[in-house]
Amino acid sequence: MNNGALGIFDSGVGGLTVVRAVQELLPQESIVYLGDTARVPYGSKSPETIRRFSDEDVRHLLRHDVKAIVVACNTATAHALPQLQQQYRVPIVGVIEAGVESVLSDPHCQRVGIIATRGTIASHAYQHALALRRTGLRIIEQPTPLLVPLVEENWLNHAATKLILQSYLTPMIEKGIDTLLLACTHYPLLVPVLQEILGSGVRIVDSATTCAEHLRRELTRLDLLAERDSAGTLEIGLTDLSDQFEELAGRFLHRVPPRISRVEL
Ligand code: DGL
Repeated sequence: MNNGALGIFDSGVGGLTVVRAVQELLPQESIVYLGDTARVPYGSKSPETIRRFSDEDVRHLLRHDVKAIVVACNTATAHALPQLQQQYRVPIVGVIEAGVESVLSDPHCQRVGIIATRGTIASHAYQHALALRRTGLRIIEQPTPLLVPLVEENWLNHAATKLILQSYLTPMIEKGIDTLLLACTHYPLLVPVLQEILGSGVRIVDSATTCAEHLRRELTRLDLLAERDSAGTLEIGLTDLSDQFEELAGRFLHRVPPRISRVEL
């Protein structure tokens, strides 16, 4: 048992989808969230830059004495997680392992589509992790760089979004995918429109929810779960503050966010 806070970081406010999932599953946990809004997006940056930024994010959270760290950003997990885990003693979990486990929890899944930022797709981290655990799996990867701005504009049900999704997804649909893995913080907000396009025969796996479940297993295994009668607290720190981020944070969190402070890395 450990009542210390969890540290969760992302390139911006999209990682609040992971915070929301963690708060739903583990309400007693306190969370210190860092969103690197001054340098978002990570999805179009080089692996070296993503690793450097992620290292600075971890150092910031460690100054808050967190008991474990969640890399909520798929791009940062894809490029920086192994290095971070090697470098620091604090337990660090990412979103990839959880997403992969969730895909493979269906023994009948055979054809998996993966959508993510350019950086995540270029790393092939999800593809490698899936192929390592199950042979014979057909994996179709698709970078979908237009989706983050569309979600941030709140064009969740807009005709343009549907058109773009159709264009991204048609090759996967033609190849008969049975599962679509959402490998980006922002995409859980697109689940209704995605399900409408894909139909009920395709299972959608969202890495935010699966990450919270994975985290619970890890905290249980390491005996780090919080034990308190009341709900844990949430502190949000962003490296750049603008009205837009406050409003966006509320949409990812599904409620009015607590006071947001600006932090220096
Ligand atoms: N958080 C990023 C991810 O999950 C998306 C936004 C960005 O490109 O930084 O990959």
